[in-house]
Amino acid sequence: MNHFLKLSDLSADEIYRLLDIAADLKYKQKNGIPHRYLEGKSVALIFQKASTRTRTSFEIGAFQLGGYGAFLNTSDMQISRGEPVQDTARVLSRYFDLIMIRTFEQSYVEDLAKYGSVPVINGLTDYCHPTQVLADLLTIREYKGSLEGLKLCYIGDGNNMANSYIVGALKTGMRMTAVCPEGYRPHPYVLEFAKAYGDRFELCDDPLKGAVGADVICTDVWTSMGQEDETEKRKKAFKGYQVNDEIMSVANSGAIVQHCLPAHREEEITAKVFEEHANEIFDEAENRLHAHKAIMVALAGNYDK
Ligand code: CP
Ligand code: NVA
Repeated sequence: MNHFLKLSDLSADEIYRLLDIAADLKYKQKNGIPHRYLEGKSVALIFQKASTRTRTSFEIGAFQLGGYGAFLNTSDMQISRGEPVQDTARVLSRYFDLIMIRTFEQSYVEDLAKYGSVPVINGLTDYCHPTQVLADLLTIREYKGSLEGLKLCYIGDGNNMANSYIVGALKTGMRMTAVCPEGYRPHPYVLEFAKAYGDRFELCDDPLKGAVGADVICTDVWTSMGQEDETEKRKKAFKGYQVNDEIMSVANSGAIVQHCLPAHREEEITAKVFEEHANEIFDEAENRLHAHKAIMVALAGNYDK
């Protein structure tokens, strides 16, 4: 693994290895066991969109590993004045050991990796959110013991989260149902990817059918960052695509809920279901820290397990 740009670049073994490293780092952190696998290394944390979890977990994660995370807002960088990605990539590669970026275009992240000479981590694009789904897989495995054979049902917008859930779930041996309304389906590349998994993947537009027998129910906001002017149109399109008691009643008993946050109560999820599953959702948020540490360590650290 040279970069962490999208889950489809990784083999199942590579994903499982990251999960194992994350679990080990979590154990070490909880038990006060030193794990400074990034001693003296630095990571550039570039943000072109807002963030609470991704920014802070990478910063704190780098610190706990003995390294340093430098927060860079693109509005303060020459990127915002048109400096080309080729030059930004080559300059930052001379200062940092790793680059993490949150931006709009997946192609920008891929270009950063292409023109730079250090590993690049995708901290969210319009296309995918792989660091988040790695944390979700870690959380699901903690709650359910293993991933193999579980059914994950995602309800809502066929956005970056849906795209990464489909790839992450199928690669790790889960069954996956994406419930998305017409016009808001997952990316065609991802639907093409899923074809190879036959009936382990299902796309439907009826939340109550899709959720039947699910072990994990996932959702995300109806309006992602950068789509704010579509908010009203989206509220209409996604009416009925809500994780609520009815959905939970057809899922398997003991089904867990995952939400990457921030959540919009009474839109994609009711306040009641959110609070009933708050432990799982905040464990998921915590696991961003452990998953991100694992990614940084695997790409640039001296971890040899
Ligand atoms: N889930 C997630 O990526 O959160 P932030 O936008 O706060 O980083
Ligand atoms: N789909 C959401 C995820 C936020 C973490 C967005 O892109 O805004």
